[in-house]
Amino acid sequence: MSHTLAIIKPDAVGSGKAGKILAHVETAGFAIRALRLTRLDTAQAQAFYAVHEGRPFYDELVEFMTSGPVIPMVLEAENAVSRLRETIGATDPAEAAPGTVRKLYAESKGRNAIHASDSDTNAETEIAFFFSTHERLGL
Ligand code: CMP
Repeated sequence: MSHTLAIIKPDAVGSGKAGKILAHVETAGFAIRALRLTRLDTAQAQAFYAVHEGRPFYDELVEFMTSGPVIPMVLEAENAVSRLRETIGATDPAEAAPGTVRKLYAESKGRNAIHASDSDTNAETEIAFFFSTHERLGL
């Protein structure tokens, strides 16, 4: 079993879609191993998305991710990183496959409902960003 980090983003939490998205990922075969509701401040969002610093959408991304509560979670499955990315679909909901989380629940490329780690290395870093050693015991 491996792990990945997902974040239900402010658009989806604010519009009451968190429960449906949690049900979707559980039905897709993921076990929720850690979860909380929190709100990022600007410094935290900038740090989390540091890899995108300098891109034209960076400031908009940080502003959006700090605009309301988010729900980060650790999901467990075989090949969790690649399977979750398949489950959520393409970044832009217009390009996401039918039945994916973003096709069903995202509003736009920026307000796209959910984040998922893009590699095992980044999953480890992103899980450590949100969850303490204590919360990760047993993972
Ligand atoms: P995520 O997978 O969370 O990681 C980076 C995010 O940047 C991505 O989801 C999108 O929400 C956002 N993003 C990528 N490209 C654009 C874009 N062209 N305009 C706005 N946001 C973008």
